[in-house]
Amino acid sequence: MRANVAHKSGNMPPEILILTDHRKEAIMKSVVFSALLATGVLVSAPAFASKELATKSSCFACHAVDKKLVGPAFQDVAKKYAGDKTAEAKLIERVKKGGSGAWGTIPMPPNVAVKDEDVKTLVKWVLAGAK
Ligand code: HEC
Repeated sequence: MRANVAHKSGNMPPEILILTDHRKEAIMKSVVFSALLATGVLVSAPAFASKELATKSSCFACHAVDKKLVGPAFQDVAKKYAGDKTAEAKLIERVKKGGSGAWGTIPMPPNVAVKDEDVKTLVKWVLAGAK
């Protein structure tokens, strides 16, 4: 019996074995996903993730959410650009390449170590009030 099973799976074309593994993984993922949904973890995840990202990207070395440090408070940035549809693209460029003159005399150096997609996530989060 044992030998027979081993023999059978040994004969299985590799594609089928791979497919089966992918399926297992997909099922596992959807189980984890629904578990997270059920506990509400996913609902609060995005805001938390952006704050984590800002910490990881060293933005808080010069910025705080609700007070001016070296750079403007992220909430003030959100207020300043409220209703400005071009703000997102503009600020993505500023965060990437650095900027000066919008808030004072201290320039923001380019944040070269931060990935493009992370800059976009951060700017969206800032413009949404950094909550
Ligand atoms: C070394 C200090 C420093 C770091 C690190 C830094 N900033 Fe800044 N940031 C500044 C300063 C100073 C300004 C004001 C520049 C000006 O007056 O135009 C600024 C301005 C900004 C603005 C507004 C730009 C504008 O033109 O109105 C945004 C948005 C911003 N920073 C986001 C970020 C994000 C996101 C990060 C992390 C990836 C970050 N900053 C990291 C110092 C910093």
